[in-house]
Amino acid sequence: MTSTSLPGAATERGVMPAASVRGLSKTYGHGDTTVHALRSVDLDLAPGRFTAIMGPSGSGKSTLMHCLAGLDRPTEGTVSIAGTDITALDDDRLTHFRRDHLGFVFQAFNLLPMLTARQNIMLPFELAGRRLEPGATERIEQVIDVLGLRDRLDHRPGELSGGQQQRVAIARALAADADVVFADEPTGNLDSTASSEVLSYLRRSVIEMGHTVVMVTHELDAAAYADDVVVLADGRVRAHLETPSRDEIVHALEGGDR
Ligand SMILES: Nc1ncnc2c1ncn2[C@@H]1O[C@H](COP(=O)(O)OP(=O)(O)OP(=O)(O)O)[C@@H](O)[C@H]1O
Ligand SMILES: [Mg+2]
Repeated sequence: MTSTSLPGAATERGVMPAASVRGLSKTYGHGDTTVHALRSVDLDLAPGRFTAIMGPSGSGKSTLMHCLAGLDRPTEGTVSIAGTDITALDDDRLTHFRRDHLGFVFQAFNLLPMLTARQNIMLPFELAGRRLEPGATERIEQVIDVLGLRDRLDHRPGELSGGQQQRVAIARALAADADVVFADEPTGNLDSTASSEVLSYLRRSVIEMGHTVVMVTHELDAAAYADDVVVLADGRVRAHLETPSRDEIVHALEGGDR
């Protein structure tokens, strides 16, 4: 991996960030009704780590994730994914970039009900008309095992539990070997047992397969599975904590200094 020429974009580990934003602002509306969802955010997310984005309701978490993931355009600033400035891409190229480089896991799982678990996992390859590159089959089989889905592959989503469905959605994101997997409240619709199961599988994908995962969550229990925690407040980064303790996260959420 080469280092980047973007000023300040290299992390302290000296590797290119998986995702990097500079001067990122997002404004909705005009005049009296203007909402500053993000206010000139600078942030580097290291590769091969599991980062949780936390903060009060309305602090800009989903807006940040949507800008990072190329699902929304910022008002100002840049977003780079593994060195590519995605804010400079036109809509067509951005769509291709998303498909080839990014994975998404949403609260509502977005599985196709008439396809089996395996067919859902393989969907990005089908949609892209993508030939399986060398090593892809082994990687996909590993994802299936790491996510504990081996004995569920021939079932349709309606025959799976919520946690299993969410694991299929994660497997789909991981199978395509995304540079970054984005998850917005991935356990929001799950009970606590299914939540901890999904989170530990996400964690395993980071540790055992080196994936980069960025997850929005408002739950401390979920953030505890992450390596790093970014705390947003009023559209700004209040803290970017490396392997924080629970107390440090609580302190930052309550308004303590970095
Ligand atoms: N499409 C929109 N139009 C106008 N304002 C918006 C829009 N989307 C978000 N906002 C505003 O931007 C701010 C940040 O919203 P965002 O959805 O990013 O918050 P969040 O941190 O994800 O909150 P939550 O925890 O409730 O999901 C909020 O004040 C919200 O009302
Ligand atoms: Mg949100």
